[in-house]
Amino acid sequence: MKYTSLGIQILYSKAENILSILRKHRIINVDLEFIRKDKTIIIPVNITDDNLRSLLESAAIDFDYSVDVFAFIEKAKQPKNLFEAVKDAIPENLQEYIPKAYDIIGDIVIIDIPEEILSYKPEFGKALLSLFPSIKTVYRKASAVSGELRIREIEYLSGEKKCVTAHTEHGIKIIVNVCRAYFSPRLGHEHKRVADKCKEGEIIIDLFTGVGSFPLHIAKSKTITVHAIDINKDALKCLEKSIKNNKPKGMIILTHGDCRHVKDTLPKADRIILNLPGKAHEYIDVACNVASPGSIIYFYQFVSDLKPLEEMKKILEEKLNEQNWIIEEIISFEKIRESAPREIHACLEASITPQHK
Ligand SMILES: C[S@@+](CC[C@H](N)C(=O)[O-])C[C@H]1O[C@@H](n2cnc3c(N)ncnc32)[C@H](O)[C@@H]1O
Repeated sequence: MKYTSLGIQILYSKAENILSILRKHRIINVDLEFIRKDKTIIIPVNITDDNLRSLLESAAIDFDYSVDVFAFIEKAKQPKNLFEAVKDAIPENLQEYIPKAYDIIGDIVIIDIPEEILSYKPEFGKALLSLFPSIKTVYRKASAVSGELRIREIEYLSGEKKCVTAHTEHGIKIIVNVCRAYFSPRLGHEHKRVADKCKEGEIIIDLFTGVGSFPLHIAKSKTITVHAIDINKDALKCLEKSIKNNKPKGMIILTHGDCRHVKDTLPKADRIILNLPGKAHEYIDVACNVASPGSIIYFYQFVSDLKPLEEMKKILEEKLNEQNWIIEEIISFEKIRESAPREIHACLEASITPQHK
């Protein structure tokens, strides 16, 4: 689209000089493209002819220029968000389904496209690549997180065909294989929160470590030993690479296997992390097995948002009771994120002890 606007034409070699004056007075018309003609450049301005001439006179410009009306091309507008980037491709009555959120993991985006607009998935692939120049690959969620490994199916949409990326959380580079291991970029704050509580010299056990975000945060700058356990070999391979990249001060010891099967190979721990929401309660016996009186556990669950603390405390107490253990003290309760309507992912931090010491 062409627009006529007042412009100033000068030799290309003198452009920097005049541009600095125009920028200082904020009178460049930034919606229009500059015109390049022979050895000159024509700059569109937002000011009247008289005002422009008097400004240039007062600036004592000592080289030739001309002021006139020119036909400029409007700059292609860069969309500000995903909605703007795809809306022209999607009928108006379906635009309400355009997602507002998506996960960015390193240089990979994973988006959940509703069924109603799934046929427009190529447009989403293209739009996300152009919206974020640092993004290399786009996938869409093709199933819910499920199974023992807590992974989901993802469908490739655009960009480089790759599964492995490096995601940065509070300065820590975490290697993630998005096709073969669980990872949520929404837990960064939680990983750091727990790591900040861990003290020099402690032993920590992370029973469901995934790609090892908790251990990497915990061992980053403290002399702490963290045992990282997972049944998913591909997740532990990512952790191995992250350890090499981050060179943590503490020690991270990897154990591949079902934590119930390997529990007797583990030492007693000062803190035990159970981030397997929905199932963590089934492993309280494993936690008791590696706990000493007063050990602290981080118990994660999906609970209703009505009385989440009460609900979590009840589940934990019942399961500890089966092992003849009790809660010694509730240290903190953290709502992490909304996991479904009226449901939250939460963490109860408590010290535990055997019922009869
Ligand atoms: C929710 S994800 C881990 C999240 C991770 N702690 C984080 O914060 O990013 C749960 C992990 O537990 C692992 N897992 C499930 N059952 C397990 C078991 N019985 N023993 C060890 N790991 C298990 C899965 O492979 C998965 O990587």
